[in-house]
Parts: sequence; C-alpha cells; structure tokens
Amino acid sequence: MTELQIPTLDGLAGRRCVVTGGAGFIGSSLTRLLLKSGAEVVVFDNLATGAIANLDCGGEVGREPEVVWGDVRDGERLVRVLREGDTVFHLACLGVRHSIHSPFENEDVNARGTMTVLAAARQAKAGRVVHVSSSEVYGTARSVPMTEDHPTDPHTIYGSSKLAGECYARSFYRCYGFQTVVVRPFNSYGPRSHFEGDSGEVLPRFVLRAVTGHPLVIFGDGEQTRDLTHVYDTATAIALAAVAKGVEGRTFNAGSGREISINELAELVRRVVGNADLPIEHVEPRPGDVLRLLADSSEAERALGFRPSVPAERGIADLVAGFRAIPLARAEQLASGMRVKNWE
Ligand SMILES: NC(=O)c1ccc[n+]([C@@H]2O[C@H](COP(=O)([O-])OP(=O)(O)OC[C@H]3O[C@@H](n4cnc5c(N)ncnc54)[C@H](O)[C@@H]3O)[C@@H](O)[C@H]2O)c1
Repeated sequence: MTELQIPTLDGLAGRRCVVTGGAGFIGSSLTRLLLKSGAEVVVFDNLATGAIANLDCGGEVGREPEVVWGDVRDGERLVRVLREGDTVFHLACLGVRHSIHSPFENEDVNARGTMTVLAAARQAKAGRVVHVSSSEVYGTARSVPMTEDHPTDPHTIYGSSKLAGECYARSFYRCYGFQTVVVRPFNSYGPRSHFEGDSGEVLPRFVLRAVTGHPLVIFGDGEQTRDLTHVYDTATAIALAAVAKGVEGRTFNAGSGREISINELAELVRRVVGNADLPIEHVEPRPGDVLRLLADSSEAERALGFRPSVPAERGIADLVAGFRAIPLARAEQLASGMRVKNWE
C-alpha cells in the first residue's frame, strides 16, 4: 500500500500564511499542504497540546515552516508576527475533553483567544482569517445530513466556546467588513492524531490498542455516530476557504458525508488490523457526548470546490501502518499507559 499523498492547491504560491495551532494534529497537515503548495508558513503555537516534532516537514515537502512560540490570548505578540495581506488560519484551541475538567481555561483560549486573533489580524491589516470551528457546535443531530442551517446546540463548554469564536468571526465581517470565513470540520483522523491524555481521539486510541492486542474500550453503547474525515480532506477544505472568492462572512461544513457508529468503527479497526477476536469493552458514556453527526458539505463543494477524497477504509489502513511503524515495545508502553477515561 502506498502512503497517502499530502494534497496541494493552486492559488497559495508566494502567500504568507500564519497558522495558529500549526503544531497540532490538523494544523501540522495544513502546514504541509500550504508549504507543498508554495506558501510561506509561520506557525504560531504555545505547544500546549502540539509538538515541534509535528513540524518536521522537510522529508515530506522539502521545506520547513517558521515557528513562533506564542499564546493566542496575547494580542500584542500576534500583532508583531502578523503582516499586511497575510492569510491567517486560526486553529489553536483546547479540546472537548479538556473542557470537561477545565471549563474556564477552555473558554478563555477558544473564545477570547479567537476574539484576540481576529482583532490582531484586523489591526495588522491581514487579508483574510479562516476560522476553524467544529461540528461540536451542533450538538446531537436533529436531522441528517446536517447542513450549516442545522440548529446549533452544543453539549459542552468546548462546543459553546467554538460557537462563540465563530460568531465573533462572522461579526468581524458584518461589523467591520473584515474578511473572515468559518469552516466546521467533522471528526478528523490521520497522521499525528492524538491518542494521549485528554486530547486522545477514539480512532487513534482504538488503533494503538488494537496493534498491541489491548481490548477496545467504547464509552456508552457505541451506537453514537460520527462523520469521520481524513485530515488531508479537512486540511484541503480549510485551505480552499482561504483561496475561494466571494465567500467572506460565510460558514461551511467539512465532512466526508459518511456516517459510522463507534461499534462499526471498532469492527473496522479489528478487520484492518487482522484481529477479529480482539475483545471490545463497553464502559459508562462520556459526559456531554454527542450522539449523532453526519455532514452535508454540499455548500463547501459548490462554493469552495471541496470534494473529500479519502475513503475511511483507506485512511484507517494508513493510520494502522503508521502505528505499526512504532517499535512494538514502545507502542506497548504507550498503550499500557493510556488513561481509559481521559476526560477526568
Ligand atoms: N481533531 C478534530 O477531529 C477536529 C474536529 C473539528 C474541529 N477541530 C478544530 O480544529 C482545530 C485543530 O484541532 P486539532 O485536533 O488539530 O487540535 P490539537 O490539540 O492537535 O491542536 C491545537 C493546537 O493549538 C495549540 N494551542 C492550544 N492553546 C493555545 C494557545 N493558547 N495559544 C497558541 N496555541 C495554542 C496547541 O499547542 C496545538 O498545537 C481546533 O480549532 C479544533 O476545534 C478539530
């Protein structure tokens, strides 16, 4: 199986792009896409959950980003980094499970941090801010597939703070005419996805446990569904929002359009790993868990030209290959050190 290729996009060559949260999971794939497409990239990150190692892009795209340590709540530092005409991708955030144990800090980074990025970008006369929001703003689907008009009813402080951030982004356009576009990715997976601590996501946790022979742990009955999107598709949608014309002030879903339950996902991982008998354990549900998500991304297709291209089976096989490349003793150490309830 050949590795999935980092996508490229026209219209980015020579642009100066600032990626907040660029050292994180999605930000590090977006950074690679931008570099490969000829952009100059500055990553602005405080490494709260990201890692410098995620930005070791040379081998893959032949170029490295500039990395600036900074906190998105520090407007003065942002203004010093941003330049007139820059394209700003705002991804820095603290995650959904973090919001359960630390709601004030989560709100501070996700909501006030977004406001600070927007104000700094406007002050620096940046060209456009692409604000990366989340499908968590919707809460559990009332009808599927979910268009951007689906009611927003977040279950968690994370979802609420992401919704506040995207409202600020739209307000900066309506109130000041400052160019903003909001993208709402659905659950993403792929290279550099988190399995550790409160950032750990279901799929990389399943895969790490499966390749080391540990039972897969499902929170609740496993009938909750997700629209799993490969991170290369997510990064493409985010980058398209920077180059598309006539989309200022708008909001776009970015999902695969395929619904999969956590039980089905566990089956798929067992199949891809080749261990059909691996036990599956059900434990109590996670507080605030969303029960159903499925994206309708047809607006993103019409206005941005977004077409997801990585089928789940292919993306998961790639993820499994990535985890199998970790020496077994190290993978075993990581799997045994995994906190099962990673929101406490
Ligand atoms: N991963 C998903 O499935 C998913 C789904 C929907 C939306 N999103 C959104 O995509 C974006 C990126 O998510 P991710 O999964 O890559 O998360 P991540 O945790 O891997 O990345 C977030 C990055 O932000 C940085 N950061 C955190 N606090 C900061 C601060 N105060 N100042 C500067 N940098 C800070 C972290 O160090 C990290 O590098 C987020 O905005 C998230 O809401 C993610």
